[in-house]
Amino acid sequence: MTRLPDFPWDSLAEVKARAQAHPGGIVDLSVGTPVDPVPDSIRAALASVSEIPGYPTTHGTPELREAAVTALQRRYGITGVEPDAVLPTIGSKEAVAWLPRLLGFGPGDVVVIPELAYPTYEVGALLAGAEVVRADGLTQLGPRRPAMIWLNSPSNPTGRVLGVDHLRKVVEWARDRGTVVVSDECYLSLGWEAEPLSVLHPSVHGGQTDGLLAVHSLSKSANLASYRAGFVAGDPALVKTLLEVRKHAGMIVPRPVQQAMVAALTDDEALAEQRERYRARRVVLRKALQDSGFEITHSEAGLYLWATRGESAQATVEWLAERGILVAPGTFYGPAGRDHVRVALTSTDERIEAAAERLAQG
Ligand SMILES: Cc1ncc(COP(=O)(O)O)c(C=O)c1O
Repeated sequence: MTRLPDFPWDSLAEVKARAQAHPGGIVDLSVGTPVDPVPDSIRAALASVSEIPGYPTTHGTPELREAAVTALQRRYGITGVEPDAVLPTIGSKEAVAWLPRLLGFGPGDVVVIPELAYPTYEVGALLAGAEVVRADGLTQLGPRRPAMIWLNSPSNPTGRVLGVDHLRKVVEWARDRGTVVVSDECYLSLGWEAEPLSVLHPSVHGGQTDGLLAVHSLSKSANLASYRAGFVAGDPALVKTLLEVRKHAGMIVPRPVQQAMVAALTDDEALAEQRERYRARRVVLRKALQDSGFEITHSEAGLYLWATRGESAQATVEWLAERGILVAPGTFYGPAGRDHVRVALTSTDERIEAAAERLAQG
């Protein structure tokens, strides 16, 4: 098997120690891990079925699949997804890492990922033995016929949102070539200056979900990173293929988590509350970064600010660590991130204020 890249976060240990040494303590804006509590409705749902001893089903309860379909429609205007075409996953990271393999792709196949991308897309292609090509535009792909193409809007790390024309063009291009389009939509609920759109929205696919999959996560929208809760939805035939392999492989979401997911997919108030927390933190951080000389690129949606001081990513990471602020270098996401850093909005209001004060001191 092709060697996997080094795990990026391990390389931050030294600079993290430097940030931790700040007298006011570290403000950790590196990994985008939720810090706000799991909503009560979700905790109650988890506990409500904790006495059930039997194996859960890989496909998830009918209630869960129905809750996913109605949430997709209510929250994102997605229509035409049948409950059978929903499949729960153990968080979305494992789905991202195993999708190319589970869909049967391997040596000789090409998997396209964005120029700047969540590192697990590359890992997933490598685990399958496929070739990885980084491209944001179809013309870059020339006459290739990729097996699979990843979309991620809003993007991690850049916060870029792909418009309906772009999405439609990719879907049409892929259909002409038999390429599967997989859209990672884990930040879809976090649009700030642009309205993110699902690949499963009828304005994108024109009423046909064939060849399309959307990957959803409840980690950020419902503070459920610790529960490991996500799902895949879209083309019924592709979902069926995934289900068959996952049944054999034991890739099953625990029953209490399935119930928690129903609550998370039903509680729109909790979703709005969490969204508001991130909105407010973003306003504070964005202004503080801009006032201290950073330029913010894209970042119109999602959980991160993609920022530059016009120097190497490493130099900016070190500059911020001196001020007790830890961020991720853009190079974690691809060579094109060489002069940017990714600043996560996932810290408490108190820590975000502390970061803003330190930035204001220069
Ligand atoms: C773009 C993207 N996809 C998927 C994931 C995986 O999230 P989870 O496994 O918590 O669902 C992340 C996590 O940060 C992400 O940024």
